[in-house]
Amino acid sequence: MKDIMMIRTYGDKVLRRQGAAVEEFDAGLVELLGRMLDTMMAAEGVGLAAPQVGISKQVAVVNPEPGNPKTLLYIVNPRMTSCSEETESVEEGCLSVPEVRGKVERPVEIELEYQDESGKEHRLTARGLLARIIQHEIDHLNGVLFVDRLSFGKRTMIKGKLKQLAASQKNRGR
Ligand code: CO
Repeated sequence: MKDIMMIRTYGDKVLRRQGAAVEEFDAGLVELLGRMLDTMMAAEGVGLAAPQVGISKQVAVVNPEPGNPKTLLYIVNPRMTSCSEETESVEEGCLSVPEVRGKVERPVEIELEYQDESGKEHRLTARGLLARIIQHEIDHLNGVLFVDRLSFGKRTMIKGKLKQLAASQKNRGR
C-alpha cells in the first residue's frame, strides 16, 4: 500500500530549517525513504527532500526519470565537493511552491559525496537535469527554496502569489 505523506508548502517554517545529519542508518530511515518515494511518485515529482514532508533531516529522493528504478537515488548527508564554472538558466518548479515556475541559474556539472540508505559512501559526477535536481534538493536541506534564487524582477512578479501561499498556510494553523 502506498504511504503518502503531506507535502509542506511555502510559508511552513520547516522548509526554512537546516536538516540534521543522519547518524543512524536503521529501519526507520529505510521506511522514511520508501514513504518519500511513494509521496514523490504520487505527486509526479523528480525530487523530494525530507523537510518537504516535515522532517528536518539530510535526506532526499531523486529520480530524473520517474518510475525508472535504475535512475532512482536515495541521497543521505550529501556534500557538493565541486561544481563547474559553466552555468545555465533553466525553468524550475517545486512541489512545495505550487503554481510558481521560474528560471534558476545553476552550475551545469557537480561532484557529490553522499551516503545511501545503508550508510555506504558514494561519489557521483552529475550533469544537466540530474545535477540540477540534486542542487535543488540540497537547497531544501539547507532551508533554501528555488524562489530565493530567481531574478529580482521575477521575485517581484510572484510576490503576491507567495503571500497567498503563506496566508493559506496560516489558515491551516501550522
Ligand atoms: Co523543491
